[in-house]
Amino acid sequence: MPATVIVGAQWGDEGKGKIVDLLAQSSEYVCRYQGGPNAGHTIVSGGETFKLHHIPSGILYEGKISVIGAGCVVDPRLLVQEIDALEARGISTAGLRLSGNAHLIMPWHVASDSASERRLGRLQIGTTRRGIGPAYADKASRLGIRVQDVLDPKILRQKFETALAEKNRLLDEPLEAGDLADRMEECAARLRPYIADTSLLVERALKEGQKVLLEGAQGTLLDLDHGTYPFVTSSNPIAGAAATGIGIGPTRIESVIGVAKAYVTRVGEGPFPTEIEGPDQARVRDLGEEYGTTTGRERRCGWLDLVGLRFAARLNGMTSLALTKLDVLSAFPEIPVCVRYRLPDGTETDEFPAHQSDFHHAQPVYETLPGWQEPLDGSLPRAAQRYVEFVEEGLELDVIMVGTGADRESVITRDQPAYSRS
Ligand code: IMP
Repeated sequence: MPATVIVGAQWGDEGKGKIVDLLAQSSEYVCRYQGGPNAGHTIVSGGETFKLHHIPSGILYEGKISVIGAGCVVDPRLLVQEIDALEARGISTAGLRLSGNAHLIMPWHVASDSASERRLGRLQIGTTRRGIGPAYADKASRLGIRVQDVLDPKILRQKFETALAEKNRLLDEPLEAGDLADRMEECAARLRPYIADTSLLVERALKEGQKVLLEGAQGTLLDLDHGTYPFVTSSNPIAGAAATGIGIGPTRIESVIGVAKAYVTRVGEGPFPTEIEGPDQARVRDLGEEYGTTTGRERRCGWLDLVGLRFAARLNGMTSLALTKLDVLSAFPEIPVCVRYRLPDGTETDEFPAHQSDFHHAQPVYETLPGWQEPLDGSLPRAAQRYVEFVEEGLELDVIMVGTGADRESVITRDQPAYSRS
């Protein structure tokens, strides 16, 4: 059975957790392939709200295997807290598997993330200050500490000594390798049972015909290579990275489901052509409860951007799309959708600009669609259906799921594909 990738099609926070949660019911494996505790998935189930940062939402179902892959960065203290919080609410974490090749976020990574944001001042990225960038930077510099290092206290101590010789220069309060190793030992003891060869595990599952979901964190426009650099995260959320992040071949992936909100949000700094001007921005934010799961920050809100979405469909090789939070737009009598950008030289384009200056200065060209102004429950009123079809036509891609409310059950599945490529 081939694997399916679930990928964010905008700047993260598209509601991937909810779509993964839905598909997890009929899957055996749910695997995270990149990112770390910068991600936050909120899942509302049976009136209870679960906020997950590292652990894939498959954990909420008994008997599923939830994998944190090699491409992830893990804050050991936060992961232990997340495990404890789930167990305290009666959710077993026995199905959790943690790649020994994933990298650990250490206290110096968190400190230097905040320090570099302070240093950048007006030019800051607006990171989640979870140490993500510095941890990936150390990984690329081959100075990183990996999950498997906690299996051997002697190696761990040596690695801390080497790292701290350099990193202590960055810290207000220098750390001592022995102390840190002692403190880590508690976390290490808790994490050891979960460490596994997750690449082999997933490959075997695929060979046995089990259903595997590969879940990206953040979103396409935050991709380190293809997003709105430098206002991006430090890993590759796009679908192509799912194979490397888990350690399977790209030929194992058959379908790629993009997840997009029916509007757009962005946290942190950076250009955002369809950001709403005027009071409607706050209205969308309040109706959509657009505050960060990880940092509590207000999210910037904008109208749907088909130029950005078309770019995401291309970069990810999307085979279909899930459109979330359509209910948030029910309040509006008219809904603008960006269909093209007007560039500084006066030309118009429906392709995402390859040059950063063009994107920074791009002006959205909108088409305005009629709203429906009635609650969405169970079926879509004609104008809401038209909104969804407009997206399908603009992307030449089927919208297979539509989110109509916060609850796990509030998703309409559409099963008459017009454009399916898989
Ligand atoms: P970092 O990933 O913490 O380094 O932050 C880099 C950029 O990605 C910032 O603009 C963050 O706000 C954004 N970001 C990181 N994780 C998420 C997420 O899960 N959702 C939305 N934005 C995110």
